[in-house]
Amino acid sequence: MNVINLMNNHVSVRDFKGKPLSKETKQKLLTAAHAGSSSNFVQATSIIEITDEQVRNEIAEISQSAAYVKKSGALYIFVADLYRQATLLETHHKSLAPIKNMESLLVSVVDTAIAAENMAVAAESLDLGICYIGGIRNNLTRIKDLLHLPKYTLPLFGLTIGEPIAKNGVKPRLPLKNLVSKNQYNPDEFTDLNQYDQVMENYYLNRPSHPKKMDWSTSQLKFFSDVKRPEVADFIREQGFTLK
Ligand SMILES: Cc1cc2nc3c(=O)[nH]c(=O)nc-3n(C[C@H](O)[C@H](O)[C@H](O)COP(=O)(O)O)c2cc1C
Repeated sequence: MNVINLMNNHVSVRDFKGKPLSKETKQKLLTAAHAGSSSNFVQATSIIEITDEQVRNEIAEISQSAAYVKKSGALYIFVADLYRQATLLETHHKSLAPIKNMESLLVSVVDTAIAAENMAVAAESLDLGICYIGGIRNNLTRIKDLLHLPKYTLPLFGLTIGEPIAKNGVKPRLPLKNLVSKNQYNPDEFTDLNQYDQVMENYYLNRPSHPKKMDWSTSQLKFFSDVKRPEVADFIREQGFTLK
C-alpha cells in the first residue's frame, strides 16, 4: 500500500494478539521514530520501552486501558526531553533559563509527537496496529517515579503496537473545508459542523462495535464539560519548567 493510502486507512487498534514484536521489528520502528524532523535539531525526545511486567501492569492500570496495554506486542512511552541539554548547560556552567521556558517545552513536545507518529506509520506499514495511550497522564507523578524520569522531562503518552486481532472501520474525519483555508482563518466554515455531525451520527449508529446515538458536536460538548487533569500544570513546573 502506498504511504498516503496507508495513512488514510489508519485506525486505532485495541485488540492485539499479545505476541511480542521481534527485535528486528522494534529496531526498524525505533529507527523510523528517530528519523523525523526536529526543531533546531534539538532531538528533544526519549523513548522508553516497557518490558518489565509489573511496570507494564501498573501503567495499564493508570491508563485505564488495561486490556490492550497489557496485550500489545510492545509498549513505548514517549517523553519530551530536555534533560540532555540541561546536563550539557550545567556542565558548562550556563544558565538553564533557555530550556525552562514555554517555547522550549513546546519544541520538545512537538519533536516527540513527530517521532511517535513516525513510529506509528512505520508500524502500520508493517501491518501492525497501534494505539496511543494518553491515559498515562492520569498519574504523571507515578509515571515519573516508575520510569525514574529526571527534571526537564515530560511523559506525553504511550504507544501500544502489535499484531491486530480485529480492526474498527476508519473513523470519518472533519471535512477538509472545516480545517483548511487560504490565506486567512475562516471561522464561519471552520465552525459549521452540521454536515460532519450528520456523518458522525450515521457512523456511530452503524458501527459494528459499541453503536450509539451521538454526533461530534455532542461528543465535544460532553468531553469539554469539565476541566481535565488540572494537576498537569503543577507537574510541569515541578519538572523544572518555569514556562517564562
Ligand atoms: C495523544 C493521543 C492519546 C490517546 N490516548 C488514548 C488512550 O489513552 N486510550 C485510547 O483508547 N485511545 C487513545 N487515543 C486514540 C484516540 O482515541 C483515537 O486516535 C481517536 O479516537 C481516533 O480514532 P482512530 O485513531 O481509530 O482513527 C489517543 C490518541 C492520541 C493522538
